[in-house]
Amino acid sequence: MSRVCDVSEVPNESLKKFTVDGKEICVGKHNGKLFACENMCPHRFASMDKGWFDGDNVVCHIHYFQFSIDTGKLEKIDEKWKEQSAAWKKSDDLTMYDVEVKDDEIFLEPRRKII
Ligand code: FES
Repeated sequence: MSRVCDVSEVPNESLKKFTVDGKEICVGKHNGKLFACENMCPHRFASMDKGWFDGDNVVCHIHYFQFSIDTGKLEKIDEKWKEQSAAWKKSDDLTMYDVEVKDDEIFLEPRRKII
């Protein structure tokens, strides 16, 4: 597991950007729950730390696609894009990390995908 930061660096209802092992990671805390994902939207590569929360989803600030903070799954595409082609709307899910807190420090490792 790789150390990211102190717990106090990620206040509740925030999204923060860190570089871990050369990769940009977004660590967020919502309703007291920590999560981490690659800091890159799988739709058109926007920074996820510039987004916000809607229920248990994180919203990308560019086209408002919503991804589950638990699974990274694409959950919702904003109605305003309904005229766009399927190819344009196509997006993978967010790449998630498993988060662990030890002695007030946040550690993470890539989440294994279940196939
Ligand atoms: S770049 Fe994130 S929703 Fe399009």
